[in-house]
Amino acid sequence: MTGALSALVLGQDRFHTGFTIPSSDGGLLVEMWDRPGAWVSDEVLAALVSNMRIVAKAGQRGKPVPLYGALLGDRADLARRCLTQVSLKRTGEPIAFCALAYFDIPFGVRMVSVVHLGLLYVTPDHQHRHLSNLLYGASTLLLLMKGGLRGFWISNVSQVPAAVGLTAHHYQDVYPRPDPRARQSFMHLLLARAIVQNHRPAFGVGAEAGFDEARQIITNAYTGGSDELKKTWESAPKHRDPAINEMCRTMLDYERGDDVLQIGRCSIMVVWRLFRSKLPKSAPVQIAWRAFLIVVLGVLSPLARWLVAPDHDVRGRPLHASDDLEVVR
Ligand SMILES: CC(C)(COP(=O)(O)OP(=O)(O)OC[C@H]1O[C@@H](n2cnc3c(N)ncnc32)[C@H](O)[C@@H]1OP(=O)(O)O)[C@@H](O)C(=O)NCCC(=O)NCCS
Repeated sequence: MTGALSALVLGQDRFHTGFTIPSSDGGLLVEMWDRPGAWVSDEVLAALVSNMRIVAKAGQRGKPVPLYGALLGDRADLARRCLTQVSLKRTGEPIAFCALAYFDIPFGVRMVSVVHLGLLYVTPDHQHRHLSNLLYGASTLLLLMKGGLRGFWISNVSQVPAAVGLTAHHYQDVYPRPDPRARQSFMHLLLARAIVQNHRPAFGVGAEAGFDEARQIITNAYTGGSDELKKTWESAPKHRDPAINEMCRTMLDYERGDDVLQIGRCSIMVVWRLFRSKLPKSAPVQIAWRAFLIVVLGVLSPLARWLVAPDHDVRGRPLHASDDLEVVR
């Protein structure tokens, strides 16, 4: 945590935090790396990728691991992602991960940043422990705190009711979701269009997939690397809310392999929703403590940066000569 705190104070991108949650199997270690491809060593990056592949292999229950996005282990790709992993404290065995991706979408003269709720896996032996809520919830909440509580757009591409329901229940203004009040605003439409046009590789969707803009459904989606994730309706993990399951069953053609593209907002409201959702025991206290520290430091960091004299100007040029100047008479 100390590294993460000093990185926040100094305005660096190197953000890594971790905490332990007590559990009957000796405790769960939750660790989060923001943009690891931009700053971690080759060894650490290789270990992160290997952990994700171990979890994905177990999660695939004998089917090949889908090789796309974060699972490819490409440094440049991992520099645009935020990884959160859960492992058993006692043995170090990795049991779950999520790999969020950052999409920069040009919008007039501005750039809108969308946090994509990327690949999510929990090994079969540890499913139904509410680790999905913990992974998506804690990582987006800590990103919200790190961004000074400024809200951001989120997206999710999935055919799995458990993941679709998680997005619908946790975030705000999510479209589509099974609620008569849910509507597609102009912003939802523009972001959805831009994501499908420019970011297909991030969620393993090939060029041949179609897109139904009004309903935000990607048709024939399992063609660009995610093929092995395609599920039948019967095998797709369901959500506790029957309305979510019914929405997925009626909107998506599981034979063809459709995905729903959900767009929503992550704001301070998600804090309330996250803590009301089912989380592993003691996780809320740990997450709340990290969130508090990050917010406090976010407030104090401009003062700290002002007090610590910088070595470089805003364009990265050194402010001090490296050698003493020689005075020539
Ligand atoms: C999808 C996946 C991550 C869900 O893992 P999980 O451990 O079951 O997730 P959780 O325990 O957090 O449960 C998620 C939701 O599933 C449903 N669920 C979980 N356990 C359940 C149970 N015993 N009975 C009914 N519903 C249950 C709930 O709706 C739950 O949400 P809630 O706790 O807010 O009600 C897991 O099945 C997996 O790794 N699948 C393979 C990879 C994949 O398809 N990923 C998704 C697409 S990227």
